Amino acid sequence: STRPYSSASPNGTLPPTYEKLYSKYSEVRRVLGAQRLTLAEKILYSHLDNVEESLLSNTNNGKDIRGKANLKLRPDRVNMQDASAQMALLQFISCNVPRTAIPASIHCDHLIIGERGAEEDLAAGINTNQEVFDFLESSAKRYGIDFWPPGAGIIHQTVLENYALPGMMMLGTDSHSPNAGGLCTITIGVGGADAVEALVGAPWELKAPKILGVRLTGQLNDWVSPKDLILHLAGLLTVRGGTGYIVEYFGPGVETLSLTGMATVCNMGAEIGATTSIFPFTEASARYLKATRREQAAKDAALFQTWPGAGAAEDAYFRFKADEGAQYDELIEIDLSKLEPHLNGPFTPDLAIPLSKFKETVQKEGWPEKLSAGLIGSCTNSSYEDMTKVESIVRAAHEAGLKPKADFYITPGSEQIRSTLERDGTLETFNKAGGILLSNACGPCIGQWKRHDGIEKGTPNAILTSYNRNFRGRNDGNPATLNFLASPEIVTAMAYAGSTTFNPITDTITTPDGKEFRFPSPRGKEGPETPFSQGRETFRVASNPPDPSVPVAISPSSERLALLEPFDPFPAGDLTGLRVLVKVSGKCTTDTISAAGPWLKYKGHLPNISANTLNTAVNAETGEVNAAYDHPLDGRKYTIPELARLWKERGQAWLVVAEHNYGEGSAREHAALQPRYLGARVIVCKSFARIHETNLKKQGVVPLTFEEPDRDYERIGAGDIVDTIGLYEMLQNGGKGDVKLRVTKHKTGEVFEIPVKHQVSEDQAKFILAGSALNLLAKNAAL
Ligand code: F3S
Repeated sequence: STRPYSSASPNGTLPPTYEKLYSKYSEVRRVLGAQRLTLAEKILYSHLDNVEESLLSNTNNGKDIRGKANLKLRPDRVNMQDASAQMALLQFISCNVPRTAIPASIHCDHLIIGERGAEEDLAAGINTNQEVFDFLESSAKRYGIDFWPPGAGIIHQTVLENYALPGMMMLGTDSHSPNAGGLCTITIGVGGADAVEALVGAPWELKAPKILGVRLTGQLNDWVSPKDLILHLAGLLTVRGGTGYIVEYFGPGVETLSLTGMATVCNMGAEIGATTSIFPFTEASARYLKATRREQAAKDAALFQTWPGAGAAEDAYFRFKADEGAQYDELIEIDLSKLEPHLNGPFTPDLAIPLSKFKETVQKEGWPEKLSAGLIGSCTNSSYEDMTKVESIVRAAHEAGLKPKADFYITPGSEQIRSTLERDGTLETFNKAGGILLSNACGPCIGQWKRHDGIEKGTPNAILTSYNRNFRGRNDGNPATLNFLASPEIVTAMAYAGSTTFNPITDTITTPDGKEFRFPSPRGKEGPETPFSQGRETFRVASNPPDPSVPVAISPSSERLALLEPFDPFPAGDLTGLRVLVKVSGKCTTDTISAAGPWLKYKGHLPNISANTLNTAVNAETGEVNAAYDHPLDGRKYTIPELARLWKERGQAWLVVAEHNYGEGSAREHAALQPRYLGARVIVCKSFARIHETNLKKQGVVPLTFEEPDRDYERIGAGDIVDTIGLYEMLQNGGKGDVKLRVTKHKTGEVFEIPVKHQVSEDQAKFILAGSALNLLAKNAAL
């Protein structure tokens, strides 16, 4: 069912979800025997399309799976947020299938601006984005996707409260999707094209991740929260330390954490680049299922772990924890009792500074000592426990006659949490303190924040947030705003002091009657005493079977949404007469190729968003930014996207020449879609960022690297004519064979050949020949 969990099974039998998992797990055990597995491996491998093929090929007979095997997976569901769902759905629609092959949901959370307060902001957000919401809602109805309207909540909180179940595998079109790993799921953040693969029922491919074990001992002290665990870990591992790994937590310390605390830790695994993160199923997980009205799920999970019943061999049980003796590729031990609160930043989440050193660091670095705003909540930290902890210190400060000196904003993660906090009086406490309640949406976390505190763009100022990211300009578009990430209670206490040098554990604030006030240690409740309130009716999910009679709402004159036209298939032969549009020098990230900020509003309109293509790239031959010349015609100067569009109109296919790590940054698929739309067939560079290279192939653009980077990057330039040699044959041979480029210099007519490398797999060769992965999916879906 796509609905929030309910079990139709009579007591004593497994519900269908667990029956399926159990039968796959039995296959995994048949293939791997008694090999000790980590928790992540058990869940991941039990979602393989073909267990034997995936686990035995290329893996030394199953002994060397991690980092080697190509896993073809069948996730249980897909969750999408409103910004990324637009392109995901447009691609899905092109496949012409009547319904999604697996359950899916859409969450309207990214497009609401935080400005004056929840009600007003929500109304304004709905108004400005109505056509996007209409498109998403009509698509949901037509294809049978759950639709969570604006105001319902932030994707990861809603998924945790309603869909996550221990043992599940999910994909989410948002990098913080691993939040659900807190409830013992494997949940991976992906781009739209990947989501579409799962939505049309094709297996989704992943190189088997390595496993980084984090063994927790001890127990958190007062003022230290699960957020501090991940802030500390980010400092240890850096933003790239988790790349290619699943982070798996285990050890006695796990039992001391709340479920929502574990979700916070998994959420921010994205900040260390991890594929995902996961915790075992604990008593706290069962308590959370019960509090979120899923008591039957807790019972089923317990039953599943004893299946097929007493007396069976130990390996026959699927326990929601690692096998005794399972090995990790890397192991980190953390004693929770030794952790202290951290503040990470500015501008990068891995710059971890312990609270005890924060004051001296602020002064040494010359960072602003005045704190201009404290923002709590978001998908990372808006749990009942977080908010009641904050409530305890706000109440104490209120009784002492204090008000926050900095602006104080609260973003609930969902309507369910908001209404429960309202019911239990927590919001009233925040309100009395002068806190501004924002809508149940991302708001300031994703740059949707209109500040009215008189801080001009470019003015350095410090804010503290309980969010997960703090890149330059991320919250308010001001590159001079320093955002430090901390737990909600640390953010709140420091907002009262209005100072970045205040230490809530050791320092005091003078009250209006001249006394010295010290905050008590925050005390929260793990969950509400009675189950969560479900909130207002208008914010509930709309969950319906697919209805093909519902038209998808896209106005032909829309500037924000446009149906996708399929890309042309690869011609029957090598590419000839390509021309170099621009030769780029230096860093060329996905931001350089497809900028965000104001362009976000065109996420669902490929022709319009393509007007930003490479618009901050540096022309290697002239040193100019966003300049390209119409060689050999008249040599006139254009912006890069203008010339690309002109060449598209003329039918002139093109390529880009670039340096190292082309496409570094995010998995943003627009960075591959846009050049393809404008007529790019090849990108040739010194090296690629891995995800972008894959995305290019998915959109039918061939990524090639120079075999002799330094020599050949110099030899080829803008306007030169390029033919491929051996490319078509290589594609027809499933990615096997050498490729060269024949270059004709446009100025001199000189002709020479350049050897190039490629990393095209058998499946990718098929995508490229079909014109894009989507074309192939659509073809297969039609069969
Ligand atoms: Fe939204 Fe920020 Fe989370 S953008 S999904 S609240 S990371």
